[in-house]
Amino acid sequence: MKRIKTAIIGTGFMGRVHLEAVRRLGFVDVAAVAGTSAEKARALADAFGVEHATADYRSVLRSRDIQAVHICTPNAQHFEMASAALDAGKHVLCEKPLALTSAEAATLVTLAAAKGVRNATCHNLRYYPMVQQMRRMREAGELGDVLIAQGTYSQDWLLYDTDWNWRVEARHGGALRAMGDIGSHWCDMAEHVTGQSITSICADLATFHQTRKRPARPTKTFSGKSLKPGDCVDAPVDTEDFGSVLFHLGDRARGAFTVSQVSAGCKNRLSIEIYGTKASASWNQERPDELWIGHRNGGNEVVLKDPSLLAPAAAAYADLPGGHSEGYDDTFKQLFRRFYQSIPEDGVAAEYPQFAAGLRQMRVLDAVLASHRGRAWVEVAAD
Ligand SMILES: NC(=O)c1ccc[n+]([C@@H]2O[C@H](COP(=O)([O-])OP(=O)(O)OC[C@H]3O[C@@H](n4cnc5c(N)ncnc54)[C@H](O)[C@@H]3O)[C@@H](O)[C@H]2O)c1
Repeated sequence: MKRIKTAIIGTGFMGRVHLEAVRRLGFVDVAAVAGTSAEKARALADAFGVEHATADYRSVLRSRDIQAVHICTPNAQHFEMASAALDAGKHVLCEKPLALTSAEAATLVTLAAAKGVRNATCHNLRYYPMVQQMRRMREAGELGDVLIAQGTYSQDWLLYDTDWNWRVEARHGGALRAMGDIGSHWCDMAEHVTGQSITSICADLATFHQTRKRPARPTKTFSGKSLKPGDCVDAPVDTEDFGSVLFHLGDRARGAFTVSQVSAGCKNRLSIEIYGTKASASWNQERPDELWIGHRNGGNEVVLKDPSLLAPAAAAYADLPGGHSEGYDDTFKQLFRRFYQSIPEDGVAAEYPQFAAGLRQMRVLDAVLASHRGRAWVEVAAD
């Protein structure tokens, strides 16, 4: 297979995770890293032996050798960077949420189609092997017709008013913080596993900390615990800490989920429960190798991740034998592998969430915000 050259834009949490995952593919070379400063870009590039480092991401887009880019920057940068990358004819893999508004996301979908390039939104959490197993069980009819989808995505890293991150400010992260940051992953997973779309929403959001202590200097994602009150100034908060949502799913099913960034002890507790007319399935990201299966007339089961026990289509997402854990990092590898395999092949179907999937979640977010503000049920705009 011809080797592909790519670049990483953003040197924070995701920049590093993407870089490591690309390295594991074996047929894609990271040729450049772009950051906000030459020093930060150089530091990440040196850690992985990447030749080129720059503070100007547009210089990466001008390079003819580089075919693709990963956008791993705060949400408010996605639209400008993805538009510029598409204009330059690059294949684009953009972090979620795809943009700040669904209008921006729709523009990116149109532009990508016009340019005829591969495009992906990083809803990577679909690619845990046991999430794929849930999906395949549902497809095979083992759960029956889906009646209910419920769950949560709960974290604790913004519990205290001394916790801060760029996501707290709508101008960097978007009008919805917890919903956009982690709720979008939950909804993408629920729709992916059930094969149905969320059609209408009733949402209630809460901002428990109306002001937070903003650090005088920038902080890394998930690193707020090291800050002391004296290092900070009081800043008003315009995004939510918590949200709860009732929803309709497809023609018949119903569901409910919460998102939280203030739930002590929950690190990345994405739990999802699917209840069908025949059986149930339940999965929790904090115990990713286990899938609980519930029966009405027999003993319940806990299936451990083992490719030999999974449906073949789910086993394709497990690279290691049973008993060897496959986790968060591996979901990126699975998505990126399929993305890059699709680049040289014109006719190959995109087996990954494209920009259209990112737009879809932006529309769900629009409905969440409108419902909360209007204290009413709101329809999700159709695709
Ligand atoms: N898929 C997932 O599981 C997942 C997890 C975490 C974050 N994310 C998404 O990834 C994105 C980045 O989040 P993060 O947690 O890595 O944030 P972060 O703050 O750790 O990193 C963001 C990086 O972008 C850099 N940056 C900002 N402006 C830039 C510019 N003009 N040019 C180059 N670099 C620039 C910053 O210097 C920083 O290094 C967000 O959109 C977030 O929603 C996705």
